[in-house]
Amino acid sequence: MNDFVDSKVYLNGEYLPLSEAKVSVLDRGFLFGDGVYEVIPSYSGDLFRMQDHLDRLQASMSRVRFELNYSFEQWMEILTPLLDSSKEQYIYLQITRGVAPKRDHAFPKNPVPTVFAMCSDIKPFAGVETGVKAMTMEDSRWEMCDVKATTLLANVLLRQKAIEQDCAEAILHRNGYVTEGAASNLFAVIDGILITPEKTAEILPGITRQVILELAKANNFEMSEEIISLEALQMASEIWITSSTREIVPVIELDSVKVGKGVPGPMFNKMNQLFQDYKKSV
Ligand code: PDD
Repeated sequence: MNDFVDSKVYLNGEYLPLSEAKVSVLDRGFLFGDGVYEVIPSYSGDLFRMQDHLDRLQASMSRVRFELNYSFEQWMEILTPLLDSSKEQYIYLQITRGVAPKRDHAFPKNPVPTVFAMCSDIKPFAGVETGVKAMTMEDSRWEMCDVKATTLLANVLLRQKAIEQDCAEAILHRNGYVTEGAASNLFAVIDGILITPEKTAEILPGITRQVILELAKANNFEMSEEIISLEALQMASEIWITSSTREIVPVIELDSVKVGKGVPGPMFNKMNQLFQDYKKSV
């Protein structure tokens, strides 16, 4: 049974049970991975940092040349009926370039996007308490990693390789510099300074990353957005991976070597508390 099995989903203007939601095999999302998506957490029925998620969705769409101009209110109207306010959940929202008359790489004329959304419970992740193992890998993805595209085959292969080595995440690097995780952003504490790679087309501009930067600034953490070499990462006293579904997760072992003392570090404990307090406050 999958997580979504009995749930109500949204597909192209209709709400229906997941098992009845069907998309044509000629949908370009199916044939080409020609789609973008968002993962938006919901706490007590409130979509967390909704405007930021919609801004990133709009940025992804314009980078891949989709036209879909729904307002904030229209998205709220679409997504709110999927939520259960008694739970911590996340919305998965996907938009593809729609169904074309035949398989052709070039865009169809007058495409009508396929819009799909479903909701799932956020399950508590034990790794937040205990910390997780991670391994470094060459970043084999394309050059538009700032786009939240459904074309995720490289990410899938990288994460799978990490799982098979008993690691929770693959931490990726290009030309000797770390970029991010296969499905997360990366933070490191180096010489007491909280550092995360700066925003470029090589990383997804994560919303969790953004919240952490704001909290770090407001609470006078020494911090910096800059490139991190693989060697510097190996010397870090703390490493965290961040995402909407897992929030902040401490990495306690990198490539089979302990990070710091091999337990979640003091800066993680402080930031995690700030993050939890912030979640409750909004
Ligand atoms: N992934 N980088 C990558 C490659 C990601 O896939 C994700 C999140 C992030 C973190 O972004 P945010 O903080 O906005 O969730 C960074 C989601 C959760 C996913 O694909 O399921």
